[in-house]
Amino acid sequence: MDLKVIHLKGIDSTNRYCYKLGKEGKRNLVVIAEVQSAGVGRLGRRWYSNYGGLYFSILLDLKEYLNDREESIGKLNFIGSISVYETLIEYLPKNLRESIGIKFPNDVIVSVNRDKKICGILSEINWDHKFVVLGIGININNHIPEDLKDTAVSLRELCKREYDRFEIFYRFLSRFKDNFHLEDREILKKYEKYSKTLGRYVKVVTPNEEITGTVFKIDYGGIYLSTLEGIRYINVGDCIHLR
Ligand code: BTN
Repeated sequence: MDLKVIHLKGIDSTNRYCYKLGKEGKRNLVVIAEVQSAGVGRLGRRWYSNYGGLYFSILLDLKEYLNDREESIGKLNFIGSISVYETLIEYLPKNLRESIGIKFPNDVIVSVNRDKKICGILSEINWDHKFVVLGIGININNHIPEDLKDTAVSLRELCKREYDRFEIFYRFLSRFKDNFHLEDREILKKYEKYSKTLGRYVKVVTPNEEITGTVFKIDYGGIYLSTLEGIRYINVGDCIHLR
């Protein structure tokens, strides 16, 4: 897999930019920006993107790499989150390595006292033009604003030092390319191993309801909960770890 990297000083959103390039027929690109003025998060939220973080999006052809299937987007998200996990864990001191993990669907979190997000992933698919954009934001040296301090953390804050963002970025890309060629069962095995959600009692908040239960399986499409009313399969929403 050959990916061309486009480095920008600033942009509204690397996902938006890749989406535009995708419609123009461009493929196999990674757009990385120093800052984003309108970074987009999941479920229509904003992704705060000040200087010092990593903000990038990968533009891929849906047919060439992902078999043009609905579940491809879930698979790509899994490849993204396991690659971020494998990249970041190498930078953490031994005493923090147990604390990092993946929270459903694709957040990479660090649990010290409470779960805090270090990476978020937002993928978008365009069926008409057959491309997919995988957007990744990682808190590296960026300052976390006061109102997000309870829920987000940076690598600098965790390890009390600054990091070379581009070294981390290129290590991620290399992991991503390796993981991309794995068989489904190997991807799922890694995801399960790194998951902080599997086996947990959780609350999933969807646009229509809140469901509580114990997570006994996760696949590309969603999460399986064992609830008092029986088994539920949920494919969208926020997941809160209760215990
Ligand atoms: C989330 O809500 O957890 C997903 C956040 C995704 C943020 C990244 S930063 C790079 C790319 N560009 C965007 O506008 N969003 C994604």
